[in-house]
Amino acid sequence: MLMTQPVLDALDLAHRDPLPRQTRPPDPHAAARARALDLAAACFSARVVHLAAELCLADALVDGPLDAAALAARTGTHADALERLLRTLTALGLLTHGSDGRFALTDGGHALRSDGPSSARAGIRVMSLWWETWSALEHSLRSGEAAADVVLGKPAFDHIGEDPDRLALFQEGMRGLNARTLPHVVEAIGDLGAASIVDVAGGHGSLLAAVLHASPRAHGLVVDRPEVVAEGRAYLAGQGLGDRAQITGGDMFRAVPAGADVYLLKWILHDWDDADCVRLLRVLRSAMRPDSRLLVVDRVMPDRVRAGADHLRMQLSDLRMLAALGGRERTLSAFERIFSEAGLELVARAPTPCELHVLTVRRGPEVP
Ligand SMILES: C[S@@+](CC[C@H](N)C(=O)[O-])C[C@H]1O[C@@H](n2cnc3c(N)ncnc32)[C@H](O)[C@@H]1O
Repeated sequence: MLMTQPVLDALDLAHRDPLPRQTRPPDPHAAARARALDLAAACFSARVVHLAAELCLADALVDGPLDAAALAARTGTHADALERLLRTLTALGLLTHGSDGRFALTDGGHALRSDGPSSARAGIRVMSLWWETWSALEHSLRSGEAAADVVLGKPAFDHIGEDPDRLALFQEGMRGLNARTLPHVVEAIGDLGAASIVDVAGGHGSLLAAVLHASPRAHGLVVDRPEVVAEGRAYLAGQGLGDRAQITGGDMFRAVPAGADVYLLKWILHDWDDADCVRLLRVLRSAMRPDSRLLVVDRVMPDRVRAGADHLRMQLSDLRMLAALGGRERTLSAFERIFSEAGLELVARAPTPCELHVLTVRRGPEVP
């Protein structure tokens, strides 16, 4: 007789365990073990979600349920292999699997679409840019430095900037992530009146555009790396702001345009270590007039961390910044420290309903 593993297990247990199966006490460690294993396997789920976004599976399901064969024909994939991916997406709660074998989007699944109010596709796709450095996190843990130089052979922004597809993925990802956060950020910033604004490292200019829509008398300029400018110009041209919004190429560590009323710095300081941040903030200080304002938009880490999705998101961003760029998320006192080293002062802090805070910074006493 062929002994299958369950049969062998049953015989073995019966031999070793004098208690009948149903009276054996529950294993008090089972839940902890299962949770740790699920956490360790989360990287597999991440890849499944990423591939679903890459293949535009959700877009294909907007008009109604389809079976694996139809989806495979549309996406150029192997029908059986795709069905296994679709079943996994169903187990993750992003699809349903009907009795007719067809798959449909759940409410959560709509987030994988490339359009629509709940779309997160650009933000999902951009995460793939961090996978190589993430796989070298151990290097960062041992050295305290970015892993980009080791695994990419250069700083991450150089790696992104040298390839047009990578650059488009990154900048579209930033715009996608901004779609969720900008309404909250702009509301916290309010109407800036007739201000002149410089958005430092502003990417394609989605923050500047949103701020200018809320400040109809203001005008502004985005400064970003030269390779970002052409697409940024096209994006801003489509925003209906006329010549109120401009973009120019430059290196923010060398110089930014002087004398603006307001400087914006969103999702920038978390890209850099303290020394680079102080270097950048000093450049900004020397560009600012005594009455200029610098608005720093970034996460603010709690002093003490607790278990939960919001803190986990922040901690993972902190480690991702370390591995990719040598950057970090900061607590309020860590922000105050780098501001004061650069001769700047934090004068106000506005939390927003999303994870970002708006920190208002002014020139303080010059630091030698
Ligand atoms: C995390 S993105 C943030 C973009 C934008 N502020 C936003 O919130 O969507 C970082 C930006 O910094 C830009 N950047 C990196 N190094 C730079 C430099 N030396 N000078 C100017 N921009 C730079 C990148 O091109 C990128 O657009």
